Amino acid sequence: MKVLIKPSHESIGLEVADSIEKLVRENPAAVLGVATGSSPLPVYAELVRRHREEGLSFARCQAFMLDEYVGIAADHPERYRNFIDRFFASQVDFAEGAVHGPDGLAEIPEVEAMGYDDAIEKAGGVDFQILGVGSNGHIAFNEPGSTQDTRTRTIALTEQTRTDNARFFDGDVSQVPRLALTQGLGTIMQSREIVMIAIGEGKAEAVRELVEGQARREWPVTILQRHPNTTVYLDEASASLLSDPALHRQA
Ligand code: GLP
Repeated sequence: MKVLIKPSHESIGLEVADSIEKLVRENPAAVLGVATGSSPLPVYAELVRRHREEGLSFARCQAFMLDEYVGIAADHPERYRNFIDRFFASQVDFAEGAVHGPDGLAEIPEVEAMGYDDAIEKAGGVDFQILGVGSNGHIAFNEPGSTQDTRTRTIALTEQTRTDNARFFDGDVSQVPRLALTQGLGTIMQSREIVMIAIGEGKAEAVRELVEGQARREWPVTILQRHPNTTVYLDEASASLLSDPALHRQA
């Protein structure tokens, strides 16, 4: 696991966009794993710019979303499908049907979950997974206690996560769905390359556990320690609880 502290969120966005551009130019049919949240936004903004101004094309790529709220209205701006469309998918040239996500409005979410890992496998697996992390160490919506072999499934959101995400629901925690569909830790670990981005002091504890702690299920993000090709991008604030940040600084 490579750990890099960069001077700004924007510089992280540029560097991750470079990695994705390199992959897509080498393999125009690459499979991307896309995360919601504020952490990947500068990556998407830069990829959209390169698509518009430099001809970077996703026409033969596929993308798989990490997670989705169960039962959220189809037109809700915080529905993850709408989020990914707004900031990335609809701004570039993915083919119709090339961006996949678990359907939070499926009649039986458990059945929806069961088919999702198969769909990823059928597409050849995820080449490049973008990840954020929750303040409690969740990745996608794998809340503390999730085990390493989990696959896509439904999960009850913790009060911590619902409180963290209330900011997207008029600050009203009662509007935050209680259930989500999420790729499992086992699903995510099958990605060939992973980039995790953590910004701000709210992530500092999870980052300390990831970089210096023991891998354990109380901090799901620590599973990334066992992934053979993961890069973790931090800003100074998210790195502030590391014992020696200077080891990881990079201009
Ligand atoms: C949500 C998502 C995660 C995301 C996390 C962090 O809970 N399910 O996939 O990583 O938020 O979001 P942010 O990047 O906005 O801090």
